[in-house]
Amino acid sequence: MTLPKALLSSRDNRFSVVQSEPWMANQLEAIQRASFPDLAEHELALERHYLAQINTFPAGQHAILENSTGRVIGSSSDLRLELDLSHYQHRFLDAVGDNYFTTHLPDGDWLYGADIGVLPEFRGLGLASLLYARRQTLVRELGLKGHVAGAMPKGYGALKHKLPIEEYVNDVITLELNDPVLSVQLRRGYRVFGIIPNYLEDASTNNYGVLILWRNVDRGW
Ligand SMILES: CC(C)(COP(=O)(O)OP(=O)(O)OC[C@H]1O[C@@H](n2cnc3c(N)ncnc32)[C@H](O)[C@@H]1OP(=O)(O)O)[C@@H](O)C(=O)NCCC(=O)NCCS
Repeated sequence: MTLPKALLSSRDNRFSVVQSEPWMANQLEAIQRASFPDLAEHELALERHYLAQINTFPAGQHAILENSTGRVIGSSSDLRLELDLSHYQHRFLDAVGDNYFTTHLPDGDWLYGADIGVLPEFRGLGLASLLYARRQTLVRELGLKGHVAGAMPKGYGALKHKLPIEEYVNDVITLELNDPVLSVQLRRGYRVFGIIPNYLEDASTNNYGVLILWRNVDRGW
């Protein structure tokens, strides 16, 4: 099989970021299951959802390939939408059209991050960094206002009886606490805009999401 064109490669050239293709859908589901073990089953993106996402907005779907094997080992999914920052409370499934991306607006001004995951055995190699870099490049290429996502503060569930979410997020921002997801995103240039209760059903986050933004300075922010 001819592998898709590399949009970005790791420094050692072991891994490439490519646009996701339909043949990858079952591997994307496997990455999703490995990445979100605590997420409610009805909120997981499955093969059929990935096929719909690729069909709806191909440029927003990225996969990481291990070049020597052609195996898909990480991915990210995005759609375009409008964002009203004075009314940002929402549920994940409503934003992503139940994972089918029926909410995608081809002229939408923001890229909305639906999901990012790397197989556990490939974490810590800078692969999510490649995906974030590629998504930010896509924002610039499309002339969008920025990248927005509901981050999952996955360290909060274990600490929920010790401190309120606002304090937890503040401690992550000020580097007093490290969150396995939110801290990575903050180090990639994202900033916290607000906290969203009942964003997703996931014990590891106590169902919270954290709205994070990366603004495209080319748009005059
Ligand atoms: C969040 C996630 C995508 C990061 O992927 P990744 O490829 O490991 O990320 P990177 O290698 O680019 O960066 C990981 C950072 O954590 C650090 N790290 C330390 N120990 C680590 C470990 N055991 N595993 C992974 N990262 C580790 C890395 O050094 C790096 O630090 P840096 O920010 O100072 O560079 C990945 O952990 C994942 O798939 N998690 C489950 C799914 C998820 O929660 N997605 C986000 C939903 S909002």
